Amino acid sequence: MPSTQGNTRVNNIIYMDNHATTPIASEVLEAMMPYLTTHFGNASSTHPFGTTAKDAVEKARHQVADLLGCSVEDIIFTSGATESDNLAIRGIAYACREKGNHIITGTAEHHAILDACHALETEGFEVTYLPVDKYGMVSPDDVAAAITPKTILMSFMYANNEVGTINPITDIAAVAAKHGVLFHSDAVQGIGQLPSDMEMLGVNLASLTAHKIYGPKGIGALYIHRDTSHPHSLFHGGGQEAGVRPGTLNVAGIVGLGAACERSKNYMEEGKNRVASLRDALHQKLNEHLDDIHLNGHPEHRLPGNLNLCFAGVQSHAHLAGLKRVAVSTGSACDSESVKASHVLVAMGVPNELALTAVRFGLGRYNTAEEVDIVADEVVKVVNRLRALAPEW
Ligand SMILES: Cc1ncc(COP(=O)(O)O)c(C=O)c1O
Repeated sequence: MPSTQGNTRVNNIIYMDNHATTPIASEVLEAMMPYLTTHFGNASSTHPFGTTAKDAVEKARHQVADLLGCSVEDIIFTSGATESDNLAIRGIAYACREKGNHIITGTAEHHAILDACHALETEGFEVTYLPVDKYGMVSPDDVAAAITPKTILMSFMYANNEVGTINPITDIAAVAAKHGVLFHSDAVQGIGQLPSDMEMLGVNLASLTAHKIYGPKGIGALYIHRDTSHPHSLFHGGGQEAGVRPGTLNVAGIVGLGAACERSKNYMEEGKNRVASLRDALHQKLNEHLDDIHLNGHPEHRLPGNLNLCFAGVQSHAHLAGLKRVAVSTGSACDSESVKASHVLVAMGVPNELALTAVRFGLGRYNTAEEVDIVADEVVKVVNRLRALAPEW
């Protein structure tokens, strides 16, 4: 079995883009392998090939529910968070159409949420996009003020994938509960790193995906609290996953998601502290050697591995092209080919010219102090070189 443990370097390039995706953990891969080979059955079949697969799916459902502090019946497996977000937003909108047509979300949400909301607007729904503060945080007071008698759903992310800012989820949940409005959270970046008990957070629905927690790509889940009415299915097909998400189950992926959730639960505290101290060491080293760098995101209420910085005078695409030994991102991975300023930084009020210089370092469990030193050295060299070439600098 090839080990992926500690595999943050390929061709001597250091991986620091763990908000885009994480390497698969060796124990997760090990758990999945039998379901890609010997135990290939369809979990809906009644013969032993099927029941073996079904047992594995139900074990994984327990592992996910255990991390989320919920009941197994609250978990619907999907192909990932884009699908979970769409199912929550569009599926709940269709299911609650009789009650109202108004949805509230934020301007710094992931495109899976924003684009699902834009699609609903073309179908007669009304959406309020609330602003965020300079750190990218949503205000529960703004949420309360935006609620109307027609509001059926609100959706706010747990932690932002670009700047790492953690939203006051329990306070927003209290507002939602007080007004009888359903609350969905895109919890992709928070689950497994931050407190992940859904009942304690108070959300009715939450999206998660395996590939941000050292699991495989293409598998995720939607948490739906058992007292919450089910979203309308977005697909027609068989009756899998209580009819909410029909389709033959991705057994190996589900097993991987379960193993990744179990692993996250066990390593959460240790991982969080270690990763945060590496992140802070990187920030300190860059601050010591470079002027005019600006932190994006909340200085404290931020994901442990997130360091999003603007390097004044250095365009981020030129910066990334100059980094030969470091894999980082200009913002969200989905936007990495675009030269437009990130919608999150724009929402936070970062001036356009500065926003175009943002680089996101996403540290993860397998990064080391030695890698932090190498990355800091390389970034300092590249930034100094590019600033020396820029006539206006
Ligand atoms: C906050 C957030 N939501 C949704 C997604 C989409 O997840 P998936 O890749 O599983 O579709 C991502 C991944 O980039 C994300 O960071």
